[in-house]
Amino acid sequence: MPVCITGATGFVGAHVTVAFLEAGFPVHAAVRSPDDAEKTAPLREAAERTGTALTFFRADLGEPGSFDAAAEGCEAVVHVAAVARLTAPDPQRQIVDPAVEGARTVFEAATRGGARRVVLTSSVAAIGSYRDSQGQPLTAAHWNDGATLQTDPYGLAKTQAERLGWAMAESADWDLVTINPCMVLGPVLAPRHAKASPSIVRDVLKGSFPANPKIAFGIVDARDVAAAHVAAVDEPSVSGRHLLCAGTRWWRDIAVLLAEAYPERGIRRWQLPNVAMYAAALTSKRMSMANLRDILGRVPHYDGTVAPGQLGLTYTGIDQSIRDTAESLIRLGLA
Ligand SMILES: NC(=O)c1ccc[n+]([C@@H]2O[C@H](COP(=O)([O-])OP(=O)(O)OC[C@H]3O[C@@H](n4cnc5c(N)ncnc54)[C@H](OP(=O)(O)O)[C@@H]3O)[C@@H](O)[C@H]2O)c1
Repeated sequence: MPVCITGATGFVGAHVTVAFLEAGFPVHAAVRSPDDAEKTAPLREAAERTGTALTFFRADLGEPGSFDAAAEGCEAVVHVAAVARLTAPDPQRQIVDPAVEGARTVFEAATRGGARRVVLTSSVAAIGSYRDSQGQPLTAAHWNDGATLQTDPYGLAKTQAERLGWAMAESADWDLVTINPCMVLGPVLAPRHAKASPSIVRDVLKGSFPANPKIAFGIVDARDVAAAHVAAVDEPSVSGRHLLCAGTRWWRDIAVLLAEAYPERGIRRWQLPNVAMYAAALTSKRMSMANLRDILGRVPHYDGTVAPGQLGLTYTGIDQSIRDTAESLIRLGLA
């Protein structure tokens, strides 16, 4: 039976879709733009290469009933789509509603379509903030109940969407598994993926900042995240939440690694004073002051050691993920 995957044309969703096709699962890809040749190309290529059936369905998180056709007759629904932005002029309408009401629409489609399992791409943002992780490493047992619309709309959205999933699973015919990754790196499969989390590596390669912000990241490879989603569908015994994090790196560590890999690029190795980041946040569409106050100068402590054993994974080395991200960006002419 096929698997329905939402957000299949996004950075994480494309890796997840390719992994399901490679594992031999026919895929119903529920996407906003099934006719966009550039966005769908990596998925079509994977279907052709593997000989596995891939069918596109048009669906939007803002339209009730939109995912019903894609989910019909699927054994599992893998819900990857969300607005992956930290900040927006109207965060309730632009970040929280698509995540929470969109998830409700997808969960209802799973019920109507007869799925036995729903896998939700949640996040460490639903587990806790950098500040929360300072006293103790955060695990899959923690929840980010401190996120508010003002301080962390993305964390609020991911927490509320996941909590909704667990609440609906109690009375549904499907059971829920969540995958909670930290920042995802790995090869970009289509040009638009460079705007998602790989944008950090692109920023370093392009010298977008005069120096390296004092920001650290928990990192996991997109191919491991994808394999986790497949295991969550393929293994009936898998249950619960799964925090994926292979380790941490400072922004500057990424710069030093890439400066050595690409000496001709003159990548800057020095540290940017925090005050310059706060000044940049005043006019940035990607950063918010509240988010910077949480993450600047702090190493996040997310315990990603449990999930690999439960899901049968071995993490890709972080340096390998960073190099593969960079190589793909350069190959596609994006950096
Ligand atoms: N990247 C990370 O570091 C990271 C870490 C933890 C969790 N996650 C989670 O992973 C998931 C994918 O994120 P990503 O990093 O891959 O970002 P992304 O590339 O921006 O992907 C987001 C996906 O959601 C889809 N989407 C957005 N709004 C939609 C709407 N109104 N209706 C239907 N689809 C909509 C997008 O569709 P289009 O393709 O048409 O734009 C895209 O496929 C999200 O749930 C995110 O919270 C990501």
